[in-house]
Amino acid sequence: MSTTELPANHAELMDGVYRWQRHIYDLTRKYYLLGRDQLIDGLDAPRGGTVLELGCGTGRNIILAARRYPDARFFGLDISAEMLETAGKAIDREGLSSRVTLARGDATDFDAGALYGIEHFDRVFVSYSLSMIPGWEKTVSEALASLAPTGSLHIVDFGQQEGLPNWFRTLLRGWLRKFHVSPRESLREVLESESRRTGASFRFRTLYRDYAWLAVIGGQK
Ligand SMILES: C[S@@+](CC[C@H](N)C(=O)[O-])C[C@H]1O[C@@H](n2cnc3c(N)ncnc32)[C@H](O)[C@@H]1O
Repeated sequence: MSTTELPANHAELMDGVYRWQRHIYDLTRKYYLLGRDQLIDGLDAPRGGTVLELGCGTGRNIILAARRYPDARFFGLDISAEMLETAGKAIDREGLSSRVTLARGDATDFDAGALYGIEHFDRVFVSYSLSMIPGWEKTVSEALASLAPTGSLHIVDFGQQEGLPNWFRTLLRGWLRKFHVSPRESLREVLESESRRTGASFRFRTLYRDYAWLAVIGGQK
């Protein structure tokens, strides 16, 4: 697995958060990281295509996507060595190692050519990671710069829960803070502005009464 230079504090923080959590991550997160399967459905990865996940965690999404798109190759980036260890083992267990390459790196500043030997990808996706990445706006621009000309960027993350009761929102926010997760209020505006800057199309959906947001930049004119 390749590694490039990392912001040490954030890498340590993420390893600290996930050192034990990674063992129960997939079981527990399936109840509240909603919209991930819709994102995978929407990838529509082309035959022989390349798909990169930034902040791939335990590899849950890459494994499901690799089963769903059996002709595509997958690449995962994460800053946490702990998460990558879990992801690597799960990918091996699934017999997917020949189609999946993992690397350790910072999603705000990475060199895909050096890490994977590939500069541009048909699909890039970020699932519930922008809410954990300091300087997440840079991840959006790096992701767009990593797209092939007809490629698309797919994002799912927490929304603002505007359609849900205040007590629910307060409880959720308190719970998320324990894991250093901050839903990004300006996510929609930043994505819209990036799509205008790059001249790409923009699609946006709110899910489950604004619990989660799902966005796609590019991929259609
Ligand atoms: C909530 S988990 C999401 C994992 C996976 N995408 C999913 O949907 O289950 C967030 C992941 O982002 C990673 N992460 C946080 N900051 C990062 C950064 N700057 N660069 C790369 N990965 C980062 C964490 O280590 C963690 O694995």
